Amino acid sequence: MNRKTDRTSPIAVFDSGLGGISILRVLRNLMPNENYIYYGDSANAPYGEKTHDEVRAAAERVTKLLLSEGAKAVVIACNTATSAAAEYLRAINPNLPIIGMEPAVKPAACCSDHPTVLVMATPLTLKEEKFRLLTKKYRDCASFIDVPCHGLVEMVESGVTSGNEMNSLLHGILDPYTIGQKIDAAVLGCTHYIHARAAIENVLAENLFSPESETFDSHGNKHVQIFDGALGTAKETERRLNEADMLNTSDTRGSVKIYNSSEDTALLERSYKLLNI
Ligand code: DGL
Repeated sequence: MNRKTDRTSPIAVFDSGLGGISILRVLRNLMPNENYIYYGDSANAPYGEKTHDEVRAAAERVTKLLLSEGAKAVVIACNTATSAAAEYLRAINPNLPIIGMEPAVKPAACCSDHPTVLVMATPLTLKEEKFRLLTKKYRDCASFIDVPCHGLVEMVESGVTSGNEMNSLLHGILDPYTIGQKIDAAVLGCTHYIHARAAIENVLAENLFSPESETFDSHGNKHVQIFDGALGTAKETERRLNEADMLNTSDTRGSVKIYNSSEDTALLERSYKLLNI
């Protein structure tokens, strides 16, 4: 255990902005009695349009800051920062549990017999070697279509997760990959996209299951199965803390502190709203 921390020390969670709140929500459901600090680096979002080195430097800076706040573990609630920085952060903080995320390619690839899977993620995540190796593992059991989602992070940051503006952005992104296609599953490979899950589901249903279409999924439904890494990441965090004997044993609900690098206070308001507190 890190010298300056104990069981009651907070779990730190960070992302390039509001996306990781979708992971914090699941972490709090799973481990309500833990204390949390959340850092959204909205001043530097989107990470997904930056270079590998820029994202690694940003993640290192944020991790240092969270450690100075006494975090007992760090959850990188960002697929992009995980692919660019997790290995490096683990190497320079060998005694710290660092939990990262990756697009939920594995459960999507196994969801039916050789499914066609859309992988929605940031341009940087899709370019990284880590992603190439991940999809290579499953290419015999599934076909993957990479969908870089330009503009989606910015829209979620601006507080829009549904409605006409969101729908028209999603149609612009998804139509070229989905109209007239047979798609079985979609992976939300960026934590921001989880906030827009309902809108994504609707646009996919509109594009893939027209009223005259006879297509049903394996359960007889006219929808695409959607996968994200939120629950897997929360469970892995619990497992790692348990293994290190660092779970908070308090029987009262823990606290949540949210910080954001942007001076725009609306981002903090949106963060609490997305967290439902
Ligand atoms: N939320 C992040 C992810 O999961 C990155 C968003 C961004 O591009 O800043 O990849």
